[in-house]
Amino acid sequence: MSPALPTPRLETERLRLRPVADADADALFELHSSPHVLRYWDSPPWTERSRVDRFLRTCRALEQEGTGVRLVVERASDGAFLGWCTVQEWNREFRSASLGYCLAEAAWGKGYATEAAAALLTWAFQELDLHRVQAEVDTRNGASARVLEKLGFTREGTLREDCIVNGVVSDSWVYGLLRREWAAGFS
Ligand SMILES: CC(C)(COP(=O)(O)OP(=O)(O)OC[C@H]1O[C@@H](n2cnc3c(N)ncnc32)[C@H](O)[C@@H]1OP(=O)(O)O)[C@@H](O)C(=O)NCCC(=O)NCCS
Repeated sequence: MSPALPTPRLETERLRLRPVADADADALFELHSSPHVLRYWDSPPWTERSRVDRFLRTCRALEQEGTGVRLVVERASDGAFLGWCTVQEWNREFRSASLGYCLAEAAWGKGYATEAAAALLTWAFQELDLHRVQAEVDTRNGASARVLEKLGFTREGTLREDCIVNGVVSDSWVYGLLRREWAAGFS
């Protein structure tokens, strides 16, 4: 097993990114039980409270197994829970990982996802010495695709009929961001 990877604390102009805590359980359940927020997610909205425990266990496992980090995104001004973001599937040999994020609807449209992901990417390229970060997004999810493009990702291809959620088949776009592209544009 790989060495543990302590989850960092990061700060941006408007946000704090910190390890997920047991006290986030209610906010996580509310976020992930929203059909609207989860409409382009690769699994259905949560209906059972036990899903929160599974989420919290996964956060700990990522850290203990050294395969990634999940961070709560909170507003610096008042500490409000906005959502979470992750770098996971860290492959130390390939120096690659995947990026993901999920924010509560009230927080959308203010640039928070881009700001949080940019901070996480800066940390990951530096501390994990990544060469490539990948993200997959439902082709209907224009806002998420736009976030990736604002971050400098390139749309590399389409995974046809990639997901089936409650019987609905959807395609995914694959996006990639290389270290040299990040260094040129965003560091
Ligand atoms: C996708 C998500 C993270 C975006 O968060 P956000 O904080 O609103 O993102 P930002 O404000 O940083 O950027 C959103 C961009 O998308 C644009 N946008 C919003 N809706 C859009 C749409 N339907 N089509 C195209 N662009 C859209 C916004 O105008 C903005 O671009 P701009 O800065 O050029 O104006 C948020 O909607 C979310 O958490 N959704 C639910 C979970 C999810 O789908 N996660 C991603 C899974 S791959």
